[in-house]
Amino acid sequence: MEEKILVLDFGGQYNMLIARRVREQNVFAEIKPFNKITLEEIKNEGYKGIIFTGGPASVYLPDSPSFDKEILNAGIPILGICYGDQLMAHLAGGTVERAESLSEYGKTEVFSGDSKLFKNVPESFIFWMSHTDYIKNLPPAFRTIANTKLCENAAMCDESRNLYGVQFHPEVIHTEYGTQIIHNFLYEVCGVSGTWKMDNYLETSIEKYKNELDGKKVLCALSGGVDSSVAALLLHRAIGHDLTCVFVDHGLLRKDEADFVESTFKGKFGMNLIRVNAQERFLSKLSGVSEPEQKRKIIGEEFIRVFEAEAKKLGKIHVLAQGTIYPDVIESGKGDASVIKSHHNVGGLPENMDFDEIVEPLRDLFKDEVRALGLELGIPKELVFRQPFPGPGLAVRIIGDITEDKIKTLQDADAVFRDEMDKAEINANQYFAVLTDTRSVGVVGDKRSYGYTIALRAVTTDDFMTADWTRVPYEVLERASGRITGEVKNINRVVYDITSKPPATVEWE
Ligand code: XMP
Repeated sequence: MEEKILVLDFGGQYNMLIARRVREQNVFAEIKPFNKITLEEIKNEGYKGIIFTGGPASVYLPDSPSFDKEILNAGIPILGICYGDQLMAHLAGGTVERAESLSEYGKTEVFSGDSKLFKNVPESFIFWMSHTDYIKNLPPAFRTIANTKLCENAAMCDESRNLYGVQFHPEVIHTEYGTQIIHNFLYEVCGVSGTWKMDNYLETSIEKYKNELDGKKVLCALSGGVDSSVAALLLHRAIGHDLTCVFVDHGLLRKDEADFVESTFKGKFGMNLIRVNAQERFLSKLSGVSEPEQKRKIIGEEFIRVFEAEAKKLGKIHVLAQGTIYPDVIESGKGDASVIKSHHNVGGLPENMDFDEIVEPLRDLFKDEVRALGLELGIPKELVFRQPFPGPGLAVRIIGDITEDKIKTLQDADAVFRDEMDKAEINANQYFAVLTDTRSVGVVGDKRSYGYTIALRAVTTDDFMTADWTRVPYEVLERASGRITGEVKNINRVVYDITSKPPATVEWE
């Protein structure tokens, strides 16, 4: 059986990072909310170790997240982090109290003692702390293994049961030696062998779905984005033609994109792919509509209709497959049984469709892991490292009403800009062109022109929640501007968007 670690989630903000840090050490980690798994289940799963996460509550309050205290005697090594540390102390019979005067927030110097957990970690190092509660009295059998100026018990352990707790957060990136401490817990305390790799994960998943989906018909909405592509191909490897993918071409994709998606999945991978050419249908619904939210709504609803109609033609389908990834699960409410990506996505599907079950093969993975899996599956790099693209597509990049001509104009201008950015290898996280509804006067040869203005947008960001505009070199902008005004009909002016998010958003609509 594959080695794995359980990340028992008590509601902290860094929990996804913990799982990620564990996987970076070649050990698979699964995150489960504390109230969705029992002690019996934990024992049966054969976890090599458990990490209790942080969380916003206080362990001494009656309704705080807790767990059966027998978990401490289950013979499985545990690392408690922050709230998890306090919970371990509380369950083991120590006392946890609140003291404003002892609270520590931000960078704090920690002094470590002798312990497996601190192997190859210096005696003094800087850590990220965020707590007001603290462990006043250690539980019986525990000893202190680190302290700070204010906090006597910054880390503790009971070696006989392999129980370790740290008040600080080894998982956050600005924590010095955090990776080493997680490594020590896994290799020194849990004794893992560290054999987990993305290709094992792929093989295990394929085996799993081969068994689980045997004899069932599965349907997947393929958008051509990274997540749905990887999910679909993985399932294809497991069940072949029992998987049908529906790709709705709403006509608002980037230049040549729809053909690329079709030739990749149908051509290269031989998948059972239905391309629905619904351009006219979408265009007629969008005719005369300029209000951004209305555009999004129309496209979302129309997508569902087209998808439903297509599914109906296929007869009984047992399973719907979705490309939900771990951050989507988090975003849409913690630990919910099955979250359908509906909020921000055209892929959001109707809830009342007649499926027996939903499978989400990427539910445990982070974006970069999904990409690694995509490469493992042989998906072309240009697709795997594709920039984010909004579900409503170019509709939210054409200001004002949408026409076929405008779509073509924007596709061409956008292709030029992306080409120049790619050739110059500019390091931006997302870049594209927007067709504004501003027309202005220009001159071509001796003639007056009256054309549209293209705005170019490039952003640098970690998470797209905030973003800075990318300092694209003038020469690159110059080449893009020259080519766009020269090659694209009806454009006689190009501007560059120099607004960060906030106050602007990445997309213009
Ligand atoms: P904003 O414009 O909100 O965009 O700053 C942040 C990121 O989200 C992408 N985006 C979307 N993605 N469906 C999606 O799947 C959508 O409706 C949507 N709207 C914006 C946007 O491209 C950027 O990467």
